[in-house]
Amino acid sequence: MPGIVIVGAQWGDEGKGKVVDLLAERADLIVRFQGGNNAGHTIVRDGEEFKFHLIPSGILYPDKTCAIGNGVVLDPSVLLGEIDGLRRRGVDVANLRISANAHLIMPYHVLLDTAGEVKLGKLSLGTTRRGIGPCYADKALRLGIRVQDLLDEKILRAKIRVALEPKQQALRELSVHRRKLRKEAGEGTRQGGDQSVAEAPDPRLDLHAMSEEFVSYGHRLEPHIADTSRLCWEALDDSRTVLFEGAQATLLDLDHGTYPFVTSSNPIAGAACVGAGVGPADIDEVWGVAKAYATRVGAGPFPTELDDDVGRHMLERGHEYGTTTGRERRCGWMDLVALRYAVRLNRMSALAITKLDVLSGIETLRLAVRYRSKEGAVLDRFPYHQSILHSVEPEYEELPGFEADIAHCRSEEDLPAEARTYLEFVSDFVGVPIQLVGVGPGRDQIVWTGSTAGLAAS
Ligand code: IMP
Repeated sequence: MPGIVIVGAQWGDEGKGKVVDLLAERADLIVRFQGGNNAGHTIVRDGEEFKFHLIPSGILYPDKTCAIGNGVVLDPSVLLGEIDGLRRRGVDVANLRISANAHLIMPYHVLLDTAGEVKLGKLSLGTTRRGIGPCYADKALRLGIRVQDLLDEKILRAKIRVALEPKQQALRELSVHRRKLRKEAGEGTRQGGDQSVAEAPDPRLDLHAMSEEFVSYGHRLEPHIADTSRLCWEALDDSRTVLFEGAQATLLDLDHGTYPFVTSSNPIAGAACVGAGVGPADIDEVWGVAKAYATRVGAGPFPTELDDDVGRHMLERGHEYGTTTGRERRCGWMDLVALRYAVRLNRMSALAITKLDVLSGIETLRLAVRYRSKEGAVLDRFPYHQSILHSVEPEYEELPGFEADIAHCRSEEDLPAEARTYLEFVSDFVGVPIQLVGVGPGRDQIVWTGSTAGLAAS
């Protein structure tokens, strides 16, 4: 099947990286289509750990082409750090391609992201502070700097000049606001605290220095810059397999997620077309990745969130700390109302369920099958209204848990009956077959369950 999209089915951190890594073995081209270095995943290969934020992990296969599509926002300093890190470890990055149309995260985007969050105070979204939102905002405002601009020094300088001026103004205002708040809080002019908040004039906002820095990035990235849409077309027209790798997840989607507690891009399958430059008919399969429970980082509604020993069990057993920010993730039961919504929105053809091993040792497993609104109405569907979602109570189906450690299981028959019942319940409820199940962090710790089981042999 030549065009396969992989998306997160919950609030991110579902373990997409591992699923992409497994499917990449069968693909020719792997393309990231949205997000930026707000994403992060760890791949363990031959006992070595690799952390990725921007480059598709397919780069670890020497014969695969990996592309960063036009829909990605790219911080060149982070990308170059990743390239250098891989090179130091002997990984050849010659097959990395970067879309000339991808937008660049500039230093002022990072500063604005942080300053905006600080200004929001208690109402902050809990962004990763990597400049994602401000960069996409500039893209929509047509003030963005694109990868191709790195190739023309004159254009680059002119564009930075135009984009920078309103940022300096905005950051000055945010800085004044911050100082006022400090004063009100009796902190006087004490320095310290959140040093990352912009205090203009800031040397990081110097037009000349910034332009020089980005020109030098351009020199280094030039060999990788390409027309990545064309790469996709050529591969697809040639019946080669292209994997479209999503970052973040469905419920963080700018349009369909729990707005405003979302990211600033569209992580759903439909966005693969826009973010990689292919047509809907190029997509043959959509794989959704969901954890066997649920997690969320940052603020926003999370109906099945647990604040008890089971939640702590998930946090500790699942090592639920962010790869990008190190933040503790909020944990809860699997939410089938939300998952069914994600299945339909992405028109998923397959599901991968990760981290099933984390549930072992929990006596009774719960799965949210409907919500109840605060007025008592039964809600079978994911509510579109923010206020309703914020106050719903989930209602659960209870299933018996399993005691056994399942980390060694490699086939469906190896799994305890209770684990199989749990998976069956999920699949039946959402109406999509489960193709693979993760039973541990290692690459081999998987159980292929569906018709694609043959992939396991490759
Ligand atoms: P931003 O994408 O940095 O603007 O953050 C917006 C929201 O998306 C915050 O709640 C983040 O915690 C969340 N978020 C962004 N990237 C990821 C991710 O890769 N995994 C999980 N949550 C994410």
